[in-house]
Amino acid sequence: MESLKTPSTGWKSWTAKKKALVLTSILVFIVAVAVALGVGLGLGLNNDNDNDEDNNDNNTGGNNTTNNTNVWQPAVGTSWQIVLRYPLNDTSVDVDVYDIDLFDNEKEMMDELHADGRRVICYFSAGTYEDWRDDASKFPSSDIGDNLDEWEGESWVNISSSKIRDIMLDRLDIAVEKGCDGVDPDNVDGYDNTNGLDLSEDDTVDYMNFLAEEAHSRNLSIGLKNAGAVIDRVIGKMQWSVNEQCAQYDECDTYAAFVRRGKPVFHIEYPKGDDTNNQVSVTGAKKTNACDFDDSDEFSTLIKNMDLDNWLQEC
Ligand SMILES: *[C@@H]1O[C@H](CO)[C@@H](O)[C@H](O)[C@H]1NC(C)=O
Ligand SMILES: *[C@@H]1O[C@H](CO)[C@@H](O)[C@H](O)[C@H]1NC(C)=O
Ligand SMILES: *[C@@H]1O[C@H](CO)[C@@H](O)[C@H](O)[C@H]1NC(C)=O
Ligand SMILES: *[C@@H]1O[C@H](CO)[C@@H](O)[C@H](O)[C@H]1NC(C)=O
Ligand SMILES: *[C@@H]1O[C@H](CO)[C@@H](O)[C@H](O)[C@H]1NC(C)=O
Ligand SMILES: *[C@@H]1O[C@H](CO)[C@@H](O)[C@H](O)[C@H]1NC(C)=O
Ligand SMILES: *[C@@H]1O[C@H](CO)[C@@H](O)[C@H](O)[C@H]1NC(C)=O
Repeated sequence: MESLKTPSTGWKSWTAKKKALVLTSILVFIVAVAVALGVGLGLGLNNDNDNDEDNNDNNTGGNNTTNNTNVWQPAVGTSWQIVLRYPLNDTSVDVDVYDIDLFDNEKEMMDELHADGRRVICYFSAGTYEDWRDDASKFPSSDIGDNLDEWEGESWVNISSSKIRDIMLDRLDIAVEKGCDGVDPDNVDGYDNTNGLDLSEDDTVDYMNFLAEEAHSRNLSIGLKNAGAVIDRVIGKMQWSVNEQCAQYDECDTYAAFVRRGKPVFHIEYPKGDDTNNQVSVTGAKKTNACDFDDSDEFSTLIKNMDLDNWLQEC
């Protein structure tokens, strides 16, 4: 079991990158606020009319396909657990959905969760090369960009490359073989980070639409991880959002676009910070800040340790 080596995983890199972003880029912050305000305004206009999803059609950029076949669509507010630190070894948390690592867990685990009446979302990094993965040797060096800050062995990849896309199709096939109900492709927001490959928002839109079509054709559901700036252009094909730290960064109104479309936001906050991973519950202002924000009763919020071990606290 390779479990207890230094985690070099996406959720950590996101946080490290995000810190760098906040420090170095006032401009991106202003854009994010503008996006948040724009969505906020839109929601305000629709406040009396939450059931009329058609009002949002123009937000899809032409990608409001209703051709998501009959893939699994979880409801707003679906309960969940996420464990990426090691292979799942505690299935006792009584929630509807488990988000677990595609590679670290075997089909027997998916079967056990299904027998318990749960759905399984399988996590993999779609936007980075991770040198410890089984298929790492398939990544051409010409498609590998900058390392993720502070995380040895993980680098951005060219998500427009057909070779990278082929690797991801193989991963979708593994998800089917293992019985996953859906996939959680991480690190699709290279555009928001120093990536060495000139990755853009357009690249992410094209990539997410590609991944969604391929997932759906395999009867797998799919969600958008973070990447708030492209929500409007991909939401039609997504079944959910997985978001980290929207409360901490005052971005939850951006992600509320999903609940307005009848799709859950699987939301994680890390109020203990980067380096504290323990079994202690969060109380007081730290809990309030994680759990109470506009529309928070519609979010599927979890308080987790940054290393995404078994520990969780619900709001
Ligand atoms: C969508 O946009 C078009 C053109 O901008 C506009 O005519 C139409 O009324 C809009 N539809 C909705 C539902 O907002
Ligand atoms: C719609 O999806 C297609 C892929 O299916 C993608 O190429 C295109 O860029 C998307 N359109 C917009 C406006 O985002
Ligand atoms: C819906 O998806 C199916 C299967 O991929 C395809 O055959 C069909 O043409 C699609 N329909 C539309 C309207 O896109
Ligand atoms: C696709 O997934 C849905 C939801 O899990 C399920 O009801 C349906 O039977 C699946 N379809 C096929 C062809 O396996
Ligand atoms: C799960 O595995 C981790 C890592 O090996 C271990 O620290 C933890 O105690 C295990 N938890 C359970 C409930 O077995
Ligand atoms: C990424 O891949 C695309 C498609 O192959 C290619 O056009 C582009 O030049 C590549 N970008 C880099 C930085 O190599
Ligand atoms: C797409 O638009 C139709 C109305 O044109 C709406 O009923 C439907 O809910 C929308 N689908 C998605 C997936 O947003």
